[in-house]
Amino acid sequence: MWEEELTSKSDTVTLRNGIRIPCIGFGTWKLTPEEAKEGVLEAIKAGYTHIDTATAYQNEEGVGRALKESGLRRDEVFVTTKLPNADHGYFKAMDSLKGALLRLGLDHVDLYLIHWPVIDTFKDRFEEDICETWRALLEMEKEGIVRVPGVSNFMVKHLKVIEENGLKLPFVDQIQFNPQCIDTELRAFLEEKKILCEGWSPLAQGRVFGYEKLSALAEKYSCDVAQLCVRFALQSHVIPLPKSKTPYRIASNANVFDFKISDEDMKIIESHSSYGRIGNEPDVPRVEQVVGFTVK
Ligand SMILES: NC(=O)c1ccc[n+]([C@@H]2O[C@H](COP(=O)([O-])OP(=O)(O)OC[C@H]3O[C@@H](n4cnc5c(N)ncnc54)[C@H](OP(=O)(O)O)[C@@H]3O)[C@@H](O)[C@H]2O)c1
Repeated sequence: MWEEELTSKSDTVTLRNGIRIPCIGFGTWKLTPEEAKEGVLEAIKAGYTHIDTATAYQNEEGVGRALKESGLRRDEVFVTTKLPNADHGYFKAMDSLKGALLRLGLDHVDLYLIHWPVIDTFKDRFEEDICETWRALLEMEKEGIVRVPGVSNFMVKHLKVIEENGLKLPFVDQIQFNPQCIDTELRAFLEEKKILCEGWSPLAQGRVFGYEKLSALAEKYSCDVAQLCVRFALQSHVIPLPKSKTPYRIASNANVFDFKISDEDMKIIESHSSYGRIGNEPDVPRVEQVVGFTVK
């Protein structure tokens, strides 16, 4: 998947089904529909060709307006959205995607992810729920309304449920990845199974700006801390999804192709994993809030 050297933000990584995914995505969590529209237009202007939203973010409609206004051909942009927790289950998932497509103004999404593995309603029978919901995503793939079915926040044990039930494994797992959260064991499993890893909160929602060692490394590589972290993800074989609503940051966050972090410095960045992940482990059941998630 990562055999080729990446030289620009529009370079792609090839999934095990042969579909190519642009190596940096623009994150949209916490953006209102209007901010999402402006942000996506800025991102496209800056050269991003990969946009990450979710039904739970309640901004798909803004993303859709930006895609339309951008004038890009459908095959020039890679769009991800995610199945919300309230819509697990075969038929609900089918209906949920149809709603998302209407809001996005698209006839298919490139990547569709089950947003969270264990949800409150099904916490006592999450294995059954994962299989039923995953079957819906595989059907969407067959129907051509989803090019790539995937999951998010799945740990090894959740992926094993799919595998042990004889179902095709996801092509992508979108997990938290930043200097504080590197999940080495899970990433080794993903690599073994040829499941591409995407990294959410690559800037640890701003926490990375408070670490002296990261600032010193950024100075060494003549970049800023955000660029260091985006580059760190790429060199860890993780697709980063940095979010910003600030135009100059949107552009600069993806300009990470004129330096390479040494193996020694990668280890220094990884040493921040002692600070731990943001939020709970993904097998804590979740319910939805108005925007994003809250832990019950
Ligand atoms: N699958 C999941 O469960 C899941 C969970 C969380 C996130 N995600 C996805 O991953 C994306 C990224 O994660 P995230 O939004 O949590 O956080 P993030 O990208 O780690 O950090 C975003 C924060 O960093 C700031 N920032 C961005 N670039 C900066 C720069 N160059 N200098 C200084 N500050 C900068 C942003 O501020 P401004 O906006 O004010 O510039 C914002 O406050 C999300 O938007 C979403 O698409 C997925």
